[in-house]
Amino acid sequence: MVDTTDLFDEVEGLVLEDASKLFSSEVIDHFRNPRNYGAIENADGYTFMSGICGDTIGIFVNIEGGRVSQLGFVTNGCGPTIACASAITCMAEGKAVDEALKISGADLITYLGGLPKENTHCADLAANTLKGALEKVKSL
Ligand code: FES
Repeated sequence: MVDTTDLFDEVEGLVLEDASKLFSSEVIDHFRNPRNYGAIENADGYTFMSGICGDTIGIFVNIEGGRVSQLGFVTNGCGPTIACASAITCMAEGKAVDEALKISGADLITYLGGLPKENTHCADLAANTLKGALEKVKSL
C-alpha cells in the first residue's frame, strides 16, 4: 500500500497557503480548531438562524449568576462560518448577558483580524444567532 501521508501534508500545506492569502491567522485557527463545537443538552437557551446564503448556525448557551457560563455551536456552513461561530462563543464566554448581547458582527470581525467582504455576513449571522439564543434565556 502506498503511504499518502506526505502527499496529504503537502496538499494541506498548499491549501493553507492559499487560505492565508484571504483569511487572517485567527480565522484559519478557529476554522481548523473550532472551540465549543457541539450542541448542549438542556441548554438554558438556544436558537438556529440561517444567513442570506442559506448556511445555518445553532448556538446554545447556559447562564450562571447572570453570566454566560457555557456555549456550544453547530453549523452546516463553510470555513468562515465555522470560524465566526467558534470565535463568538469565545467572545461571549464569561460575559454578563447584557454585555454578550451587545457583541456585533463588526466586533467579531475585529476580533478575527478581519474578513473578506463576501464573508462579513458570516459574522452578522453568528452575532444574530448569539443574540437569539440569549434572548430566549431572557424571555424565560
Ligand atoms: Fe454564508 Fe458564511 S454564513 S458563507
